[in-house]
Amino acid sequence: MPQNASAAALKALTEWWEEMGVDVDQAEISAAMKAQPADSSGPARDLKPVRSESPKQSQDQARGPRKSRRKQSKTLEDWVAEAESLAAGADSLEALKAAIEIFEGCPLKQLCDKTVVYDGTLSAPVMVLGEGPGGQEDRMGLPFVGKAGQLLDKMLAAIGLDRKTNTFISNVNYWRPPGNRNPEADELAVCRPFVNRMVDLAQPKIIIATGGVAAKSLLDTKTGIMRLRGSERPFETPAGTTIPLVPMFHPAYLLRRPQDKSRAWRDLLLVQARLKEMGVAL
Ligand code: URA
Repeated sequence: MPQNASAAALKALTEWWEEMGVDVDQAEISAAMKAQPADSSGPARDLKPVRSESPKQSQDQARGPRKSRRKQSKTLEDWVAEAESLAAGADSLEALKAAIEIFEGCPLKQLCDKTVVYDGTLSAPVMVLGEGPGGQEDRMGLPFVGKAGQLLDKMLAAIGLDRKTNTFISNVNYWRPPGNRNPEADELAVCRPFVNRMVDLAQPKIIIATGGVAAKSLLDTKTGIMRLRGSERPFETPAGTTIPLVPMFHPAYLLRRPQDKSRAWRDLLLVQARLKEMGVAL
């Protein structure tokens, strides 16, 4: 970290760290930001990214150990059964959101700030499902609001889709994994009953799965996104809902590999064509 960094440079650096999946000690960053005016050329403190713990964990360490609400005596099967029961009891998307928020069966919940459920239009013909919240989403409690989310919004807008009128956005996991690592199989398993119920309740015309984690989990396959994208596949819930699902590159991947945007564009055109075929006006 250069000694003469401005507040703007600090902000850019921390955003870059977060994009790279490195946890950042926000308390230290804001202290450093407060300590110098925006245009300061004075010395900045030597800041280091926190590699092995989330901001939440470091706050928790400062406060002393936090009692886990996830009872150790319960097995994964118990938690999946509890998720299924909570999901089945929800008769609207709002009720489902409340059910997910009270669920204590995902260990990630102890490590993050917010439960991130959905955003957008509840009766939308298009449902976008990503892999799970990142740092910005965890702070705001909404899916896809960081840099990747901004690109997602632009991609959707290119085919006439937006959160305010015709798109519903959620994830296959509702809690931010530390360091933005991929959610693990058990973490996805306890969320799955909620994802299924969300699809049953929302009855979208089409689902866009962004990225390999979401696409592989939803389609229950080991095939990677490179081979999954380019065509639609049926997504089926245990309750019997079947919705066409289009796997697409994750916008965070497209930020790193803009040369693949043309392939994402082809997938967006596929979504647009299918919606037109189904008589959905955009
Ligand atoms: N990436 C995702 O997959 N989901 C989000 O909500 C944010 C980033």
